[in-house]
Amino acid sequence: MTADTHRFPVITIDGPSGAGKGTVCLKLAKALGYQLLDSGALYRIVGLHAYQAGLLTNAEGVVLSQLDESKLVELTQSLNIEFVPSNDNNKGDSNVHIVVNGHRVDKLIRNETVGGYASQIAVLPAVRKALLALQQRMATQSGLVADGRDMGTVVFPNADVKVFLTASADARAKRRVEQLKNANQSADYEQILASIVARDERDENREASPSKPAADALVLDSSKLDVETVYTKIKQYCEQQGICF
Ligand code: DC
Repeated sequence: MTADTHRFPVITIDGPSGAGKGTVCLKLAKALGYQLLDSGALYRIVGLHAYQAGLLTNAEGVVLSQLDESKLVELTQSLNIEFVPSNDNNKGDSNVHIVVNGHRVDKLIRNETVGGYASQIAVLPAVRKALLALQQRMATQSGLVADGRDMGTVVFPNADVKVFLTASADARAKRRVEQLKNANQSADYEQILASIVARDERDENREASPSKPAADALVLDSSKLDVETVYTKIKQYCEQQGICF
């Protein structure tokens, strides 16, 4: 019996940030009545708490090249992370709220800085292991759409449907600029592109669960596709694999 043996259907959507995974996963989860696992949020939560605990930078604020893995595992295990079902779906909000030690953190973790902290701690195998059971447990309660980097390769190797959704760094940076502008926030394309490239480099080249397509995943490049087209293609693929909408 493998660790991810699940009674309910599991769809994994992996790929770099900005490829459109979040929107597609949310649409799939809503259409199917499945739970949504935003695994990136888990790494962001640990990254943010690690930064606040002074485990990522030195006293001068310089990023540490050597992280204290056992302290980070201890910190990860001390966090009570809950995905709480929410009713604000009609606002385009996630269908779960993320609550850590009793506090909602959804907004706090959604920025490039925290994404960078997440990518820093995500290289550590022991931290990844500390988050594994929490992720796998989610497939024991209902159908699941799992969004991440290693959902199809490590966390749910027996998933019913696996997709790797990617896009060029340029397309992803342009989308991020649009999002920030729409939210009336300042956006510097070059800076965003550099941060995306640096994060890709770390996520794809780390030894522990690098971001890569599972051997049996459908690989889809969304660089030139709009959200609706991406969703339709993935929905059709799910149907071909036996998922009923
Ligand atoms: O998907 P995201 O941007 O929220 O992810 C934030 C970081 O967390 C990303 O740079 C890599 C890491 N991550 C990971 O290593 N494994 C996952 N399953 C999800 C995210």
